[in-house]
Amino acid sequence: MTQHMTQQQWWRDAVIYQIYPRSFMDANGDGMGDLAGVTERLDYLAALGIDALWLSPFYRSPQADAGYDVSDYCDVDPLFGTLEDFDRLLAGAHERGMRVIVDLVPNHSSSEHVWFQEALASPPGSPARARYLFRDGRGEHGELPPNNWQSIFGGAAWTRVDDGQWYLHMFDSAQPDFDWTNPEVGDEFERVLRFWLARGVDGFRVDVAHGMIKQPGLPDWDGEQVMVEGGNRGPMWDQDGVHDIYRRWHRILAEYGDDRMMVAEAWLKPERVARYIRPDEMQQAFNFDYLTAHWDAAELRTIIDRSLTITGEVGATTTWVMSNHDGVRHASRLGLSNPGARPQKIGIGDEQPDEALGLRRARAIIMLTLALPGSAYLYQGEELGLPDHTRMPDRYRQDPGFHRTGGEDGGRDGCRVPLPWRAEAPAFGFNDSGERWLPQPDNYADYAVDRQRDQPDSTLSLYQRLLKLRRDHNLGQGELTWAPSPREDVLVLTNGDVHVVLNLGDAPVALPAAPLLAQSRPDAVSDATLAGNAAVWLRAT
Ligand code: GLC
Repeated sequence: MTQHMTQQQWWRDAVIYQIYPRSFMDANGDGMGDLAGVTERLDYLAALGIDALWLSPFYRSPQADAGYDVSDYCDVDPLFGTLEDFDRLLAGAHERGMRVIVDLVPNHSSSEHVWFQEALASPPGSPARARYLFRDGRGEHGELPPNNWQSIFGGAAWTRVDDGQWYLHMFDSAQPDFDWTNPEVGDEFERVLRFWLARGVDGFRVDVAHGMIKQPGLPDWDGEQVMVEGGNRGPMWDQDGVHDIYRRWHRILAEYGDDRMMVAEAWLKPERVARYIRPDEMQQAFNFDYLTAHWDAAELRTIIDRSLTITGEVGATTTWVMSNHDGVRHASRLGLSNPGARPQKIGIGDEQPDEALGLRRARAIIMLTLALPGSAYLYQGEELGLPDHTRMPDRYRQDPGFHRTGGEDGGRDGCRVPLPWRAEAPAFGFNDSGERWLPQPDNYADYAVDRQRDQPDSTLSLYQRLLKLRRDHNLGQGELTWAPSPREDVLVLTNGDVHVVLNLGDAPVALPAAPLLAQSRPDAVSDATLAGNAAVWLRAT
């Protein structure tokens, strides 16, 4: 497909950095990160060497699900600033050559959205109710939910309103699902897309992209629907009708030039995800197979090959992602005795990760990730090697999934903790006031930006070096070739003139004689051998 590639298709090899605005940088000192904070740190992001930012939601929202419950899609929540703050951020990023994509949450709104408020105030059967999925209940008096669907956050996916009807919410009860078969909904989202496109955004990350259309009749589902191996299943996910929505959006984006893009968050099997990135739909989809891979050479290789083949078949490039705001950071996951488990949280009562081992492996795996052709997504703080807050007392937890399951599940708060900028400052320099919406663990001092900046061996410097090499050697547009591996727990590959060796085992492995471009740790290579849980980039000879 490379012959069709134009300069405009910047996303094909882009490294895109996820900003979680609540926790990136807090300019006004209220304990909650904001857009002005992001703008203050644009030079930091430019120096890191990324191509684009993805901003998690900053829209008006009661924050029942940290902003993924939007009450006004075309305004900035006062918590994060104003539309003018957004314009400044966007202009500042563009001046520095970085693109900006924003989060779009089309599956559901907030229950505070004016449409839902109108629906509540209107009778059953009214046009206002028809924008959401209101239904009569089952049972003699309608006292049972209309079907047996469960919310992703636990409990029934239905909540009853005063007049006895029920509404569907695949997430929290404060996040009612839209009825996307109602043309009014599609028209409203066209307006939202155009609003942000006209402001100059470079694209959208589409939340729950596989959820908007439900099987007609909303039939019961007795299988697992939630986050089972291989993705979501059931009549509420991945219905063919969603693709009509993305074809329409594709045409809208194209009106604004050929350099706007969409990336799908769709928790599905890779073969099904590929359908979202056909040439007339979205441009990218997150590769959750890669994110959920075990620390296992054969499994990683299989997933990488399959991802490249499947996305290649539809003419798209693959995205590589290790962490985001919905699960334990990889520096912590990879320090668990089962490095491959993907818990949403690690709490006080759980097995604690081996912090040093987790960091070693995190630094090694990024050398694989950034060597692969395609696009990569980084989650804020991973460039610092940041672990989760794995001992956060439950009383601080805000994730609705935690509360809806009585603390059994959910609890994504550990990966959402404010970033450490200065080791010795209040709130580690997240702001000047020392306020913070979630507590930071003491060990964040060791990871602070001011401890890592200009330190050649730091994780931050490693990311900077790799991102520069990746660009200089054109790895994002390159081609992967596997080389024979000396051992089953070692991966060896070549991309252009870069030769990558990743040792997932504990025992050292011999290296070929070749100039060293980068190593995952200062002591990764000695006497022409590569240490365990380490990686190198060599100049292919
Ligand atoms: C997506 C988001 C997640 C949110 C959910 C509901 O999975 O990444 O954070 O809770 O959608 O909007």
